[in-house]
Amino acid sequence: MSALLDPILNFLKCPTPERWLHAAAADPATLLIDHCNCELKAAQAAVRLMRRYDAVPEQAMREWLGPYEAVSFGRMAPSELLANRPATPVISHKSEMVDKLFLLVREELHHFEQVLEIMAERGVRYGAVSASRYANELLAVARKTEPEALVDRLIIGAYIEARSCERFAALIPHVDERLGRFYHSLLRSEARHYQDYLALAERFSPEPITERVEALGKAEAALIERPDPQLRFHSGVPA
Ligand SMILES: [Fe+2]
Ligand SMILES: [Fe+2]
Repeated sequence: MSALLDPILNFLKCPTPERWLHAAAADPATLLIDHCNCELKAAQAAVRLMRRYDAVPEQAMREWLGPYEAVSFGRMAPSELLANRPATPVISHKSEMVDKLFLLVREELHHFEQVLEIMAERGVRYGAVSASRYANELLAVARKTEPEALVDRLIIGAYIEARSCERFAALIPHVDERLGRFYHSLLRSEARHYQDYLALAERFSPEPITERVEALGKAEAALIERPDPQLRFHSGVPA
């Protein structure tokens, strides 16, 4: 596990605070619902990037994500989605971005289904849980002109994936065995998502990305270490 986690701990500018771990372990239902939302948001963000900067068939993407979004809006029962899981569309277009992000979307949607299964086992109902400040405040720091805007969004993607991976690993000793096994099973894909986003940032940046990685890493760590009135998967120190 340390070969997987060491580069991530090195990349992040701070570890998850102990107080967050205890608060998260004390409110597993909120954490599961927010985790489910995060998986969908990760898939949606990757689809947005592919639509904006590459070529993916709009209609196929809408049909693919539609049922997951219907669950998140409360328009479809989770059991209905789990009984009729949407098929992965076949797309002929290939590029480095599509190669990496298409696989990422497929994995995030699978994680979404897995969280729904765990929620069903535990009788946790999919209810409305507002988004945390984390992703929006990070995206607000991104530069606004191209190609810098794309590079920053990719680096931010890398931080979100790296933080998710770090939090899953840190939560394992604090949760029950079933949830611990599930979090452990997510580590490998989340670590690859972090690497893929970082590789894409390097690929699309006309200059070395070291400085931006540093600046966005500090912004990310500030959100993790700042008091936060809400408990969410990516929230700060419980206020
Ligand atoms: Fe995921
Ligand atoms: Fe991910």
